[in-house]
This record gives sequence, structure tokens and C-alpha cells, in this order.
Amino acid sequence: MPLAGKRILLVMSGGIAAYKSLDLIRRLRERGAEVRPVMTAGAQQFVTPLAVGALSAGHVYTDLFSREDEQDVGHIRLARDCDLVVVAPATADLMAKMANGLADDLASTVLLASDRPVLLAPAMNPKMWAHPATRRNVATLRGDGLAFIGPNAGEMAEGGEAGLGRMAEPLEIVAAVEGLLDGGARPLAGRKAVVTSGPTHEPIDPVRYIANRSSGRQGHAIAAALARLGAEVTLVSGPVTLGDPPGVTVVKVERAEEMLQAVLAALPADIAVMVAAVADWRVATPNTEKIKKQPGEGPPPLMLAENPDILKTVGHHAKRPKVVVGFAAETQDVESNGRVKLQKKGADLIVANDVSPETGIMGGTRNSVKLITAGGVEQWPDLSKDDVAGRLAGWIAERLT
Ligand code: C5P
Repeated sequence: MPLAGKRILLVMSGGIAAYKSLDLIRRLRERGAEVRPVMTAGAQQFVTPLAVGALSAGHVYTDLFSREDEQDVGHIRLARDCDLVVVAPATADLMAKMANGLADDLASTVLLASDRPVLLAPAMNPKMWAHPATRRNVATLRGDGLAFIGPNAGEMAEGGEAGLGRMAEPLEIVAAVEGLLDGGARPLAGRKAVVTSGPTHEPIDPVRYIANRSSGRQGHAIAAALARLGAEVTLVSGPVTLGDPPGVTVVKVERAEEMLQAVLAALPADIAVMVAAVADWRVATPNTEKIKKQPGEGPPPLMLAENPDILKTVGHHAKRPKVVVGFAAETQDVESNGRVKLQKKGADLIVANDVSPETGIMGGTRNSVKLITAGGVEQWPDLSKDDVAGRLAGWIAERLT
């Protein structure tokens, strides 16, 4: 029972994703957690306090001015008598209130009065998530030290629209809860890490670019795993459709050159894990205007220039982190190519994998890797990318202790 004895205050605000919070309550409780729900008036429009109370097997708190509730625990005790506050779904409205310190109902008052760690699982329409006001509020809340899980990309419940805004799945939220509560095993506390993830987009003109099939799943999972072990992680990510991992500072870039600058800005660090599928070449001089088809002229030639090798730069840098890890995505001679890369890039470890299309690794959720170090080669079994990340974070922690 990984969450045995843990007390979680679950704040639910008003969004259709509230139905997933019912499952979240079940998942938390089956892991041994005690869940105390607080619902906003909006949340009660989507699921009933009766259903929430039945699943949580306890009282559901809804009203700031309820004499009965105040006599029971009182809003200040409600705010503090827990190990973690989870806000799921976290609507744009509730986040705006939190970012500004408003306290006009029980949920927002409890959040303002709490001194416990807070995990937010946002859920809203993609346009609302992308709105500058929400961006500002999220930045403020991150700056206040609140953790986020999701939102994920996908279809909206209302249909017809897709994009970032779907609430993280209950089990993803549970994993983030476990990570945040796992105060016992934080061997990387006080360590700084920089991780690259995703593809890079190299512009051809303002609307076209060169890219690759990297999803960012492995890199994002590694950033999350290092953070769970207590590291202060900067994740430099190319364009991906994944949500930001909880407890990680994310720097979003497009081009390899931007990625290099962001990585160098994150030094000094103790750990560098370069997972991004950086484009080897960029278009030497991207057109400032959209290239037009010219009748009779045929396709325009693309002159390429070599991109900086970020891993190699970090591996040979004056501020080289103590542990430098690179990835080698190969379609042949995985081991020998990995060894050459270890040397050339100045890495301590190359995590090599076969990305031949039939393996389904590139863009998929599983990975089968070989660990190549100066000491030899270790084959890991077929694992989920999350499990590879967890084991790799453990391997790194061991090197540093
Ligand atoms: O040389 P190759 O691209 O196969 O090396 C893969 C490793 O090097 C990965 O860790 C990748 O993140 C890193 N890399 C980099 N900058 C590049 C090319 C690769 O950091 N321009």
C-alpha cells in the first residue's frame, strides 16, 4: 500500500473532468490513502456530493459558512490536516483565484490557508489553457512552488476540439501524488539536472520545417523521475504534445541552436541527460517569406548546415556536469555505434536503443535499451518508458552517492 496512512485533501472544481476524479478517489483509496473531498459549487454541477462521499467514505466539504462543517474540522484545519492537497480538476477559474490569492468560497479559502504541498491537475478547453491570462497564472503558481500534472493533449469531452487541456488520467495523478509524497527516497535532493527531450524543428520558411518522429515521452519521463528523486530539474523541450512533468522547470524551444543555449544557461548542473532527437542539420538560411512555387522552375534546393552537437558540447564543457548521459537511437550495430558515441561525446553513459520502425520505439510508449559505459554493456529488459526513466534515475543517483 504505497499511500498507506497518507491524507489527501482533494479539491474538485467545476469541469466535466470531475467524473475522472471519482476514479481518482478510488485509486488513491485502494493504495491506502485517506481522501477528504472539497467541492466547489461548479464541481457539484458535474458530479454529486453524494457520489463523491460514497467513494471517499466520508464527509464532503462544500460550504465555507456551514456551521456544521466548521464545528467538524473548520476550514483552517481542513487546509492543514493533510499530507498533500490535490486540485483535480483544476479549472482556469480556480487557478486564476489561486494565483491572485482570492478566497471567496471553501475551496479557494482552503487553498489560501494551506501550508501543505499542492498538486494541480488542470482541465479546460485548449483555448482557455493557451490564453495569456492562464499562461500568466500557471507561471505564477509554478513560481509559488505548486506542482502540475498535465493537462494532456487529446479530444475534448465536448467534442470537435482537440489540443492541450484534457485532465491527466487518474493513474498519472496517482503517480505524481506518490512522487510528491515519497519524501523518504530523495537521493538527488540538492542536485541540479538538465534534460533535453523531444524533436527540434528547423525552419525552412515561416510555415515549413524539418523535424523527426520523437514524441518526447522518454525525455519527459526521465525529467519526472529525476525530480521524484529530489533533483531540481530543468527540462529543455522541443515541440511536443505532452504536458509538463510535475515539479520540473520546463524551457520550451524549437531549434537546435535554441536548445543548446537553454542547456548552457542551465549549467552548472550535476546531471545532464540529453534525450532530445536533435536535428543533425538545419536549413542554412531559412527563407523569411513563404517559398512560392514558381512555374517552370522546379523545386527549390535546400542548403543544409550542421547543427551544434549539444551532448558533445556539454560532455566537453568547462562546467561539465558530473554525470553526462546521452542516448543513441540506432537502426543497426547498436552496441558498436553506442561505444563510439560514448567516446566522441564525452559521456559517462550512452543509453542505446534500436529504433528500426518494426520496434515501434520511436513515438511509442515502451523501450528496450542497452546501457553502454566504459566498463561494459548492460542489456535491460523490455520496459515502459516510465520504468526506463525510473531505473535510469536510480542509476544516476547511485553514481552521485
Ligand atoms: O550522434 P547522435 O545524434 O546519434 O547522438 C545522439 C545523442 O546525442 C543523444 O543523446 C542526443 O540527444 C544528442 N545530440 C545532441 N545534439 C545533436 C545531436 C545529438 O545533443 N546535435
